[in-house]
Amino acid sequence: MKLSVIGCGYLGAVHAAAMASIGHEVVGIDVDERKIASLSAGEAPFFEPGLPEILSEGIASGKLRFTTDMAEAKGAKVHFIGVGTPQQKDGYAADLTYVNAAVDALLPYLSPGDIVAGKSTVPVGTAAELAPRIEAAGATLVWNPEFLREGWAVQDTIDPDRLVVGVPSTGSGSGDEAGSGSGDGSESRSSTGSGSVDSNAADVLREVYHPAVAKGTPFIVTDLATAELVKVSANAFLATKISFINAMAEIAEVTGADVTQLADAIGHDARIGRRFLGAGIGFGGGCLPKDIRAFAARAEELGRGESVSFLREVDAINLRRRERAVQLVVTALGEDVVGKKVTVLGAAFKPHSDDIRDSPALDVAVRLKGLGAEVTVTDPEALENAKRQHPQLNYIEERDDALRDADVVVVVTEWDEYRRQLSPEHAGSLVADKVIVDGRNCLDAAAWRAAGWTYYGMGRP
Ligand code: UGA
Repeated sequence: MKLSVIGCGYLGAVHAAAMASIGHEVVGIDVDERKIASLSAGEAPFFEPGLPEILSEGIASGKLRFTTDMAEAKGAKVHFIGVGTPQQKDGYAADLTYVNAAVDALLPYLSPGDIVAGKSTVPVGTAAELAPRIEAAGATLVWNPEFLREGWAVQDTIDPDRLVVGVPSTGSGSGDEAGSGSGDGSESRSSTGSGSVDSNAADVLREVYHPAVAKGTPFIVTDLATAELVKVSANAFLATKISFINAMAEIAEVTGADVTQLADAIGHDARIGRRFLGAGIGFGGGCLPKDIRAFAARAEELGRGESVSFLREVDAINLRRRERAVQLVVTALGEDVVGKKVTVLGAAFKPHSDDIRDSPALDVAVRLKGLGAEVTVTDPEALENAKRQHPQLNYIEERDDALRDADVVVVVTEWDEYRRQLSPEHAGSLVADKVIVDGRNCLDAAAWRAAGWTYYGMGRP
């Protein structure tokens, strides 16, 4: 199928390349000329495992191309909108400037029968507002939220754990009933109450995602508002889970309990599950923090602020944990931080990524620098981005060089280079003082202590 992908940032670039890799003919469109030049040369403008390979393959096969010219969207059957929805500069709500601009720019090139599939994370109600403009061009707007994780983006796009498509109501017809759908049990439909959903558009999306659909991936067809809400509520739930365990870490800290053992123990309950119960310096990145804030802001607009007021608490717990890590370093240095050599292992908001947007790791480094420490940061992938944003910190590429003569080491991103491949004995031979703060609870505390280190974890004795 001919597809266009508008917006070639994280989501769009991966989506375009992944769609080409499953056989579609794809054009990726972005206003950023540098990004388009890089992608056209088969180079990913950010670190994402597996992306360079599918980019080069797609370009070489002729199935994938990139351009700044929106006119090239003409002729595509489905147009995916994958532009960013950052936090507004002066508030918590999402900034929809790029979504509106993408739709406006696309309108002249839509043909009757085309489908516009929104993938960007938007406040609930956005699709309903956009739909009339798209329908006036004879096209149909669907919302098809994306659940990819950075670091696993290619795999998550080609082989997602579920597909969700919100389609417009077809009016007051008596078509599909609400409830679970036909056939294989992996599909469900719901109506909006005012009429049945337009399943033709959903069928086109089924065809787009044919390999995943063929292997029985749950394919949920719903209304536009539900599709928008599925996305933000999924991220809100994940953020809440992380802040829940971090709140338990705070209680563990005053009681001598160990939050990692607690997480293991409650995680065995299948209703709870161990994933996303990693206590530490908390969540960051381009999604979870801004999505929970935008959700809370949207709920306020809808007169339902109290329904998600707990998300303010989720945010507050999350930010407190960064400060807790800083406190632990101050304690470890005997309250005397000025001029002390602090080595920070990690800059990215999580491993397998060079993304430093709202990175808890860099936040901790910057706060320590603010207290007067001499801070050296290392990271396998994120140093270039970090340097640009925080030129006041020292950056050293080689892990061992960064560790040399440190008075204290702080682990803030759980890369394998620190978690698995760094032995306490080897690290001990490099530093000035064997003191480590494990901001991600990712080290074997007993092994580090046995090698003579003073070990501090987050919510661990
Ligand atoms: C998140 C969601 O997981 C994706 O499903 C979603 O598609 C994406 O946002 C998005 O909206 O685009 P991502 O931002 O790539 O994906 O990162 P996560 O893997 O969710 O991690 C987010 C943060 O939580 C990281 O800083 C990570 O270190 C932290 N985290 C994660 C914890 O502190 N503890 C945990 O147990 C797990």
